[in-house]
Amino acid sequence: MAKKQPANPIANSAGNGLLDRRLFLTGGLASLGIALSPVVNASESTTNRARKPWMQSPGRALGDYGQPSQHEAAVVREGRTSQVGTLGSGASRTPLQDLQGTITPSGLHFERHHSGIPDIHPEQLQLSVQGLVKQPLKFSLNDLARYPLTTKTYFLECSGNSAVNLGPNPALLTCGGIHGLVSASEWTGVPVSYLLDEAGIDSKAKWVVAEGADAARMNRSIPLDKMLDDALLALYQNGERLRPEQGYPVRLLLPGYEGNTSVKWLHRLEVSAQPAMSRQETSKYTDLNLDGRAEMFTFEMGVKSAITSPSGNQQLTGKGYYEISGLAWSGYGPVRKVDVSADGGKTWAAAQLEEPILDKSLTRFRIPWHWDGTPCTLLSRAADAQNHQPTRAQYTKAKGTSGFYHYNAMQAWRIEADGGIHNVYV
Ligand code: CO
Repeated sequence: MAKKQPANPIANSAGNGLLDRRLFLTGGLASLGIALSPVVNASESTTNRARKPWMQSPGRALGDYGQPSQHEAAVVREGRTSQVGTLGSGASRTPLQDLQGTITPSGLHFERHHSGIPDIHPEQLQLSVQGLVKQPLKFSLNDLARYPLTTKTYFLECSGNSAVNLGPNPALLTCGGIHGLVSASEWTGVPVSYLLDEAGIDSKAKWVVAEGADAARMNRSIPLDKMLDDALLALYQNGERLRPEQGYPVRLLLPGYEGNTSVKWLHRLEVSAQPAMSRQETSKYTDLNLDGRAEMFTFEMGVKSAITSPSGNQQLTGKGYYEISGLAWSGYGPVRKVDVSADGGKTWAAAQLEEPILDKSLTRFRIPWHWDGTPCTLLSRAADAQNHQPTRAQYTKAKGTSGFYHYNAMQAWRIEADGGIHNVYV
């Protein structure tokens, strides 16, 4: 029997140096020569005999609440924009290009506030369930914490995320500066269905209006079916109580829906037959179509991906091996596939998706790449069970460029001969 030849692990899987995503599984790592600084003086360097300053006296004492290394002080939320005349209204973005894995550190979760961050005393919060119910109910935080809790990992994305790429010229921003209104956390809380079941829903009910206890009383109308399906009253984020900017002490969490509907600082759920037609669902958070009409109540965030490394405003240090890595997500369900192109979309190769691939959560993708040092354009495209991420041309042909919400077209990064990287439209 003829022996089967193993596939060459460093053979290209698509044009312009994209390698096989299974490269590391097939033992191709050593052949890449990634160790760029080989040890020259083995007797000293490999044994670390030289005593560094931090080895010559004891380090600092134990701490109460841990903080990142002082050498990581540049990794902060970016693109903070406050609306004119306000201090606390506006948005800040997750620095996606500085992070790895799929969970966003709580202190780097994006922010979007409509009237600043209220300081709510947990013992004074009361959540009411009222309207078309048999028995209106009021819950203290302690009441809520006595229900069975559930823990799930979900992304949250502002529906205005990435809209800067609708502009006439590509903004020369980082990946986080363009796409950083998406973050993911492990959320723990009480299913909303428990409270609605207990209150008893009237047969005429179709909507639930959720209202926050901030100064804007930010509110949105949510379909009752969603509230009974997977809506969560989140009390904990990444294992600790919610951060104030994430809705402390309790927020609504609607998996896959535009972030604005996951109302923070929640204090009222009003069950109703009609939507409230409030400011945030009429003058804002609607989608302008080509014919000038606006669609309301477009909730799910479409399938999307972006390469986080290498990405905008980063710098390649010379030709050779790189790992291309990024994030993909969909409000409709798990990500099924991510392809990457290194030649501006002419040829594509399947990226490795890191498991577990969770429903309505961020998925990390990776693919090895050998850059030959010439200018090129990197792209990623994701698909869920129903839809493929559109090109920018496909998106703008269908929707125009005057809208703002739910922009989910592919991100292209141009790499110049000097290794500089910037946003580009293809
Ligand atoms: Co929408």
